Amino acid sequence: MDYGYFDDDAKEYVITRPDTPLPWINYLGTEDYFGLISNTAGGCSFYRDPRLRRLTRYRYNNVPFDVGGRYIYLRDDQDGDYWSPSWQPVRRPLESYECHQGLSYTTIKAAHNGIHAETMYFVPPGETLEVWRVQVRNDRDVRADISLFSSIEFCLWDAQDDATNFQRNFSTGEVEVLDSVIYHKTEYRERRNHFAYFACSELLAGFDTQRDTFLGPYRGWDAPEAVERGECFNSVAHGWAPIGSHHVRLSLEPHETRQVIFVLGYAENPLDAKFDPPQSEIINKSLVQPVIERWTDPSNVDAALAVLRSTWDKYLSVLRVSTPDEDTNRMVNIWNPYQCMTTFNLSRSMSSFESGIGRGMGFRDSSQDILGFASMIPSRARQRLLDLAATQLATGGANHQYQPLTKRGNAQIGSGFNDDPLWLIFAVSAYLKETGDLGLLGELVPYDNVEGSETSLYEHLGRCVRYTLERLGPHGLPLIGRADWNDCLNLNCFSENSGESFQTTENKEGGVAESVFIAGQFVVASRELEQIARALAKLDDATTLESNARRMVEAIERDGWDGDWFLRAYDYFGKVVGSRSNEEGQIFAEPQGMCVMAGVGVMDGRAARAMTSVRDLLGTEHGVMLVQPAFTRYHLELGEISTYPPGYKENGSIFCHVNPWIMIGETMLGHGDAAFEYYQRTNPSARAVISDVHRCEPYVYAQTIAGRDAPSFGEAKNSWLTGSASWHFVAISQWILGIRPELNGLRIDPVLPESWPGFSATRQWRGATYEIVVRQPLGVTGRVGRLVVDGKPVEGNLVPEAPAGSVVRVEAEVEPASSD
Ligand code: BGC
Ligand code: NOJ
Repeated sequence: MDYGYFDDDAKEYVITRPDTPLPWINYLGTEDYFGLISNTAGGCSFYRDPRLRRLTRYRYNNVPFDVGGRYIYLRDDQDGDYWSPSWQPVRRPLESYECHQGLSYTTIKAAHNGIHAETMYFVPPGETLEVWRVQVRNDRDVRADISLFSSIEFCLWDAQDDATNFQRNFSTGEVEVLDSVIYHKTEYRERRNHFAYFACSELLAGFDTQRDTFLGPYRGWDAPEAVERGECFNSVAHGWAPIGSHHVRLSLEPHETRQVIFVLGYAENPLDAKFDPPQSEIINKSLVQPVIERWTDPSNVDAALAVLRSTWDKYLSVLRVSTPDEDTNRMVNIWNPYQCMTTFNLSRSMSSFESGIGRGMGFRDSSQDILGFASMIPSRARQRLLDLAATQLATGGANHQYQPLTKRGNAQIGSGFNDDPLWLIFAVSAYLKETGDLGLLGELVPYDNVEGSETSLYEHLGRCVRYTLERLGPHGLPLIGRADWNDCLNLNCFSENSGESFQTTENKEGGVAESVFIAGQFVVASRELEQIARALAKLDDATTLESNARRMVEAIERDGWDGDWFLRAYDYFGKVVGSRSNEEGQIFAEPQGMCVMAGVGVMDGRAARAMTSVRDLLGTEHGVMLVQPAFTRYHLELGEISTYPPGYKENGSIFCHVNPWIMIGETMLGHGDAAFEYYQRTNPSARAVISDVHRCEPYVYAQTIAGRDAPSFGEAKNSWLTGSASWHFVAISQWILGIRPELNGLRIDPVLPESWPGFSATRQWRGATYEIVVRQPLGVTGRVGRLVVDGKPVEGNLVPEAPAGSVVRVEAEVEPASSD
């Protein structure tokens, strides 16, 4: 079935039927105020923290799916017929429907019985509010009398409490209504100085703020009584469930269009000026009123939309590529960086699969998200690095997660994931290569946010490495701790009680479980830090880092190799995991990718053998599976991984995050065809033709695609918030296309499919523009052999940094590999 198409010029995906296999989601906002919005207007909004500052409700796992949203109802007052111009929640058949998912905006267009409606939702840059611009057009030849109702359901701020603590919450809801504005002020009387407002540009025929009054007894959002009868009740919520609904009457001449603007926003008042008059319980509206006036004015809305578009054009101008492959161009130029912005902003907190409650900003997740984001807005990446490092523990370990609102480590989630700190080095290194801003390393940053504990960021990185070195097992490989990148490989857990969290339950002491994955990761991180040390002229540090990395490589070669691939781990008892000698779980993808990225076995053929094993044992037409054979029963000594049915999640799905590591590994061996083939298998745009199988959005990566062992082989889940975004962007842009910032220059090292004649690209880097043309003669595969920069031949493949403002012409030619 066809659900839509890409409009690359508009940078949109246009959905052409509302009943997509799953809600196809977009995000509004890129700074402090965010919204999740589906193709049928489902979703909700929050300010900074989706758990602690949730503005509106969304009902996860409801029936039908995707309930709660930014709903508009239209009613024909001549015959009482009513419908949703976003299809949901009324689901009346529409004569036409289109949802344009764009960069930080969503437009839904629909026609019913000669009335056309177009609603555009977006967050004006720099604001803590969202605008809904509704245009209603009468395509009939006679006048139409239309009632328009808005609706949202307020969340009582703390989303966790809101969804559970009904004995209190049914009695706390409070609102105010003044002119055309509904103010949501639950708990404003006490320790909150923030409130939400929902404004309308028009004079109201009525309003409702009490959910059950608006809907009517035992009714749902699909058939509100107020809409059905064509008139609100002017209810003022007190307790129960506060909502916001405005009623506007439109009398439309034939072919006339009317525009109505709604503004939903978040506002804070100074503590000493919360109320007006001061001794009352009435919200002081003097600060927010000008904001409301500004954003209900259409000319400001249009201007902000233009700013939003040009802001995105600027972000996307950092890298523009023109390759022979349309799916590649589309992902690299538009959707992949867009998703990287989203993962940077939200980590794994809130999507249509993540409720925004359980998970804050992950230390490893946010660190990796920077890899794909640092080039877009380096200053924001810099701040994030400092925030992350401030949650690092003095031991060098990390708080596994932190809350975005407080920027404090989340003690409930704990620490002890032994891969965590090493990711910080990856992230800092990516930022330094992008910017050359070595000054970052001298910034003083505390540990666990404890005042007085500050050291330089460089010292933080040193502790990351030492954290591993102080926790080596009997084979000289890193101890795994709670788990490593694979959260579900809990080798010290031994959980026998259902309901225990593998993430936080007590670990058994005294084990020797070691991770070959962390070993590879340690080598990569140490080499990155070594380069940083050299850039700071800390040569002793560099030497130490180098020899530690060398020792770790030796340990991997000695005790981390199974004969045809890299082992995964040693368990608590010192038994191998991820070996041919295991009954199930014989080969894991992560150590193959990471160890080859670390360069282990590249010279002696082991890396190539590992890649062949991946292809033969883990490769499928939908991508590379995480483990084979998948676990068919619960293995107490392995932890959560074997709790999933075979083919899902960590138990043998195509875990998209890991696929780019395999792609990068293949490029390191010069295998352009293999790398690109893997790239295409997980490429969402290339998978659009199999949307009925894939089911998630065709414009973003998902965390997993069900593996061969699952009945739904090929079905994606957990779209949007996944490290797949960053790593795919790194794999295609830096390793396959090979445009790779380094500390001292821009490396041009493409490893392309044989059939490509080359490609061209524009890269903004440290203020200069590099116009790059790569040529690959027919039938040739290899590496860049000839590099010409501004007409002059350059030795090697590193383009020196040019002064800011300059435009540099780079021509590179691929020459046959000398040996393969
Ligand atoms: C999931 C992992 C996730 C972890 C942390 C597990 O249940 O399978 O993918 O990293 O939870 O929330
Ligand atoms: C998702 C988590 O967010 C990430 O941190 C982890 O590495 C992967 N799952 C694999 O378990």
